[in-house]
Amino acid sequence: MKVLVYSSKSFEIPHLKEANKEKLQLTFIKEALSLKTVTLAKGHDAISIFAADEADSLIIKKLDSLGIKYITLRSAGYDNVDLKTASNLNIKVANVPAYSPYAIAEHATALLLALDRKLIESNKRISNFNFAQENLIGFDLNNKTIGIIGTGKIGSVMCKIMHGFGCKLLGYDIKENKELADSYQLQYVTLNTLCKKADVISLHTPLTIETYHLINNDLISKMKEGVIIINTARGAIINTEHIIAGLENGKIGALGIDVYEKEKGIFFNNNSKKAQKDNLLVKLIAMPNVLITGHHAFLTYEAITNIANTTIYNLSCWNNGRTTENELIYNTF
Ligand code: NAI
Repeated sequence: MKVLVYSSKSFEIPHLKEANKEKLQLTFIKEALSLKTVTLAKGHDAISIFAADEADSLIIKKLDSLGIKYITLRSAGYDNVDLKTASNLNIKVANVPAYSPYAIAEHATALLLALDRKLIESNKRISNFNFAQENLIGFDLNNKTIGIIGTGKIGSVMCKIMHGFGCKLLGYDIKENKELADSYQLQYVTLNTLCKKADVISLHTPLTIETYHLINNDLISKMKEGVIIINTARGAIINTEHIIAGLENGKIGALGIDVYEKEKGIFFNNNSKKAQKDNLLVKLIAMPNVLITGHHAFLTYEAITNIANTTIYNLSCWNNGRTTENELIYNTF
């Protein structure tokens, strides 16, 4: 089986090579899948893509005309793939559903702690030998109310971590997890109640039609004054213009994001020598109470190893005429 691995990063190639016991023919390219790069797939049976690659209807039709039969995502999220078109064209799609929920939840915690305890500002001062403590006051997480929107694999780990900090847990999900309620005293409430009561809100839902711009002016107006919002899920769950307005008028105390609504074409690349055209991102970066990381919550050794193993597993199943349990079936969504 010949596989073109789009968006391949130097740090993941050794893991993919190591996992490739079956000697699938892997070709690694740095380019992301897009309308411009889709023809590079010619001559391959399968492609592997990442979260920032674009596999919309038009691109999938093009892939089909080039003879691609399989798409394996090296990510858990698959909002960038048009599953309906893939299913109609009999192209199989699989993801890596749970490579390490710990990596993401721990990163969300890191963003929260860094913002609360003003670690970036403190470190900046210290690099100038300024050890003054003015304006570095944070708050104890102990006894604070944390609202977790989406209590699936990553949200569950976030609940457990926050429970360890002594926080009160509020959850909102379309599917409740009884174990979290029983073992960690998580209380499921409506979205409005969560927003009204939470000191910190952490987002862990997939990006769907229902969650697109879930965090908007209307919901922000119901939140506590000074709330901290953390988003390690998908950028477009937050309406960026609305969140900037909330930060500017003080309603939102701080924002920690690993994902950004318009990250495609910006994140995952070194753009330091280019003119910056995304004014909303420029604005966010300039805000002292905003902490941004470039979609690297997944970047732990354990997660990369698991991503590589599951990606090769998915491809090997197909190569041997089997299905993989990680296949994404359009009908069920
Ligand atoms: P999951 O599928 O295990 O959990 C998602 C939860 O959201 C489920 O409990 C589901 O019932 C709930 N949900 C779905 N629609 C909802 C709605 N409309 N309202 C409320 N709840 C809803 O997914 P997982 O693995 O926990 O991933 C969560 C998010 O993290 C996804 O957006 C994923 O793309 C993102 N992610 C981000 C990474 C990063 O590097 N920043 C890496 C991996 C995942």
